[in-house]
Amino acid sequence: MEKKAFHLANGSTLSLSQDFILPDDNRSVPSNLCPLLSIPVINMKDSIPVLVKKISQACEEYGFFQIINHGVPSELCQKMVDSVTDFFSLPPEERALLFTDDKTKPLRISNYYLKVEGKERVTMWSETLAHPWHPVEDLAHLLPQNPPHYREIATEYAKEIGSLMNQLLSLISMGLGLEKDFLQKSLGQNPRLVSQCNFYPPCPDPELTLGLPTHTDLNALTILLQSQGVTGLQAIKTGEWIAVDPVPDALVINLGDQIQVLSNGRYKSVHHRAVTNKDSYRVSIAMFYGPNKDIIIGPIEDLIDEQHPPMYRRVS
Ligand code: OGA
Ligand code: NI
Repeated sequence: MEKKAFHLANGSTLSLSQDFILPDDNRSVPSNLCPLLSIPVINMKDSIPVLVKKISQACEEYGFFQIINHGVPSELCQKMVDSVTDFFSLPPEERALLFTDDKTKPLRISNYYLKVEGKERVTMWSETLAHPWHPVEDLAHLLPQNPPHYREIATEYAKEIGSLMNQLLSLISMGLGLEKDFLQKSLGQNPRLVSQCNFYPPCPDPELTLGLPTHTDLNALTILLQSQGVTGLQAIKTGEWIAVDPVPDALVINLGDQIQVLSNGRYKSVHHRAVTNKDSYRVSIAMFYGPNKDIIIGPIEDLIDEQHPPMYRRVS
């Protein structure tokens, strides 16, 4: 894809105009990145006890980790990134058909904004395609029709992510000293499984823009696949921004708010953001696993005692 102006599905064009330029104090300054720290990389071929320990430590200290040897074929990951790229290469008129502000639409294109006090909101330098990734058997009609190979690849990818998600949730449960299906049971029979594909075109002056505003993920667990060789994701560790740079064939895992609450604050849902870059476009595919709307989530009883009083209320 060439470095020409990117036309958003909402009818506007990415440019260094007021709409996209951040106020001074919201800018990401590369020299403020902490170069010494990086998030743990965990080898999923390690033994279960080793994995439980390493994952538990990463969840407590970082809320983020990367996994290698996770079993999702590397060609499939590449195909998934390529089909998302192909999707965002469709003419804007075609993407516009899926553009909506209605967050209840299962299949939709949207934009993110940064709300800035006393100023118009700033539009993020990105576009996002969201759709469910479950039920896999009956997914196709909920996915974009174009590019034509998208449905097949996204369905295959969703299947792989489904089993990896189960595996990770059990390892995380065990790390909390719980039965391995405990977290999954707490999140309910009908989890909310949404995938969010983010596209970040190159930006002539990355310090002036952001790809995604600082946020925590609302769900329980996120598995993120990102373009190889392009940086963009950053997370906060003890008050400093650190880069979550792509590691070959790795997937990024981060905890969402629901696990922070269920674990009574022991595991962290950490603030993160996406920055833009000058040289090439970047793709990321976040697969979210969250509770259904009607599930009540609160700290798990077994994790509450005199030393660890409940830090959160039970809410749906
Ligand atoms: C997200 C997210 C980060 C990225 O989609 O919630 O944090 O690198 N994405 O795109
Ligand atoms: Ni996120």
